[in-house]
Amino acid sequence: MSQENLESVLQESRTFPPPREFSARAHIAGMDQYRRMYERSINDPEGFWAEAAEELHWFKRWDRVKDDSEKPFFKWFVGGKTNIAYNCIDRHLDDATANKAAIVWEGEPGEERVWTYRDLHRQVSRFANVLKQLGIRKGDSVAIYLPMIPELAAAVLACARIGAVHSVIFAGFSAESIRDRVIDANSKLVITGDGGWRRGKTLPLKDVVDEAVQGCDCVKNVLVVQRDPGQDPFPHQWTEGRDHWYHELAESVDRLCPCEEMDAEDMLFLLYTSGSTGKPKGIIHTTGGYMVYTYLTAKYVFDLKPEDVYWCTADVGWVTGHSYLLYGPLQNGATVVMYEGAPNWPDNARFWSIVEKHRVSVFYTAPTAIRAFMKWGDEWPQKHDLSSLRLLGTVGEPINPEAWMWYHTLIGGERCPIVDTWWQTETGGIMLTPLPGATPTKPGSATLPFFGVVPAVLDAEGNDARAGYLAIKEPWPGIFRGIYGDPQRYKDTYWCRWNGAYYFPGDGARVDEDGYFWIVGRVDDVVNVSGHRIGTAELESIYVEHPAVAESAVIGVPHEIKGQGLVAFVLLRGSTSDGSDDLRKELNELVVKKIGKFALPEKIIFSADLPKTRSGKIMRRLLRDIATGQALGNVTTLADPSVIESLKEKYSG
Ligand code: WT7
Repeated sequence: MSQENLESVLQESRTFPPPREFSARAHIAGMDQYRRMYERSINDPEGFWAEAAEELHWFKRWDRVKDDSEKPFFKWFVGGKTNIAYNCIDRHLDDATANKAAIVWEGEPGEERVWTYRDLHRQVSRFANVLKQLGIRKGDSVAIYLPMIPELAAAVLACARIGAVHSVIFAGFSAESIRDRVIDANSKLVITGDGGWRRGKTLPLKDVVDEAVQGCDCVKNVLVVQRDPGQDPFPHQWTEGRDHWYHELAESVDRLCPCEEMDAEDMLFLLYTSGSTGKPKGIIHTTGGYMVYTYLTAKYVFDLKPEDVYWCTADVGWVTGHSYLLYGPLQNGATVVMYEGAPNWPDNARFWSIVEKHRVSVFYTAPTAIRAFMKWGDEWPQKHDLSSLRLLGTVGEPINPEAWMWYHTLIGGERCPIVDTWWQTETGGIMLTPLPGATPTKPGSATLPFFGVVPAVLDAEGNDARAGYLAIKEPWPGIFRGIYGDPQRYKDTYWCRWNGAYYFPGDGARVDEDGYFWIVGRVDDVVNVSGHRIGTAELESIYVEHPAVAESAVIGVPHEIKGQGLVAFVLLRGSTSDGSDDLRKELNELVVKKIGKFALPEKIIFSADLPKTRSGKIMRRLLRDIATGQALGNVTTLADPSVIESLKEKYSG
């Protein structure tokens, strides 16, 4: 968050109580009810979560709700047997939900497909049988690299149905990123597509996967979904024996596929995310706890009712798409809108035309998108009838009060509560959030904890503080179960501070006089670019692979639309301090090749030196001060203070 935002948040004192008409019909209708349920969830977590779990289907009931005897390795619903795909689909086939729209899909070029819950059942069952035909069994890992088409939902749910572990890779990642993830997860199968649309262009997904799996011994097959069934496929290469068209295999498989009875602690998925080292972490989520947590948070935070049309704009490649495009709302039997493409295609009103056309009632998006809409101008939402909206949500990064107010006024027509939801890939589901019928909101604050969540703001020693590190005291069902293949990193990263008494999420926060939480941003070397986490160490290790580069330091800087952008300081080999434009281009190409376009920095500054302590540590704090034009902090520990002046000149030059 920029200094400017921080100051405006610090001064923010407006409060917005939930509209009376909203509360009257809400699941949680007021603060008394919230407090009562919250107290219960803290004083009797096992009773509280057992009741939530009872709303779902279990093949066998759990023996124990919570096991924290091997902290920080938690277990929930120990001994229980269930299947999350069953709870997303089969559970709804006995009542009126069966014939209601589950997924309303819109492609970027404008086509529409609607799957009812019954259709979803057929599609997922067929997909699951295709996976089985390709030899996938319970416990096998499957990588999914697909555009936002309904088959992406089918692929994910099909894995869950047969107990395969899905590892979804966002379709903006490069071949090398895919390869790293496929190898780390030991994926046997990669599911991809012949293409997808983004801002009027097609994504050559199959080509990227071909490159990624070359020499990957673990991958036995590549399953290819055709973007436009019945038409000519997009141009692609084909490897006989390894590659299979999904639609061809789907023709001959059984229509029915029973759900595998999964142990509550069987792995459901892996999702890779960036940390403060160069290597992304495979975040492990298991079945039962994640299922109950996403179910209950979706129900209460989005106040889901049978008649709602719910749209989460996130890609399934990120955790928001897992928990709140698919698993949470589908377990609640909601109608989910899924959109393939860009918000500004064919024009800046695309999102609002989707809201109007499908009568969206609950809309969940990211601050970076809201800031882009603000910049594009008020006329775009004003062209459309947004009166179907009743609730708005935001996630991914701190929202500045100006953007919050714009969202409230222009999109919400001043009648829709806004839920600012703080959570992470690791937490599985929403942790800090208003409950829309109960919590008075303040622009820029994620307000109060969800049921069962015990947050605190602590200083380095573990004392309560008004401003400091966010910490979470008690385990909740949706907590991740570790980092794949690296239990030590799990302990070191998340449980080392404060003697293991708290979970450390890596965020800074402030708590106000009403006990409301205000998230300030990351306190580790992770930068949040448009709501996507990028580890500065990942970029740094890429740059030093270039023969001209001796060393580099990457920092996050405030960015008007993205929230944060990246700036790279690159130290060249030899005595030269001038990198050419060609070198800049080469470094950018390296980043695109190793991670993907979305990780490109705003600026690369070439330099003959970097500010270092006498012991040789790069002082990133000073680099951030230079980039934000702030008065420099303490420079007395610098080995060579003159470096600063030359960097300042270069930065503004
Ligand atoms: C990081 C987690 C959770 C889904 C999307 C990102 C930041 C997330 C908020 C919010 C302030 C937020 C935090 C967090 N963040 N939501 N409402 N207010 N900051 O998931 O990639 O795991 O990133 O996003 O810094 O640690 P993720």
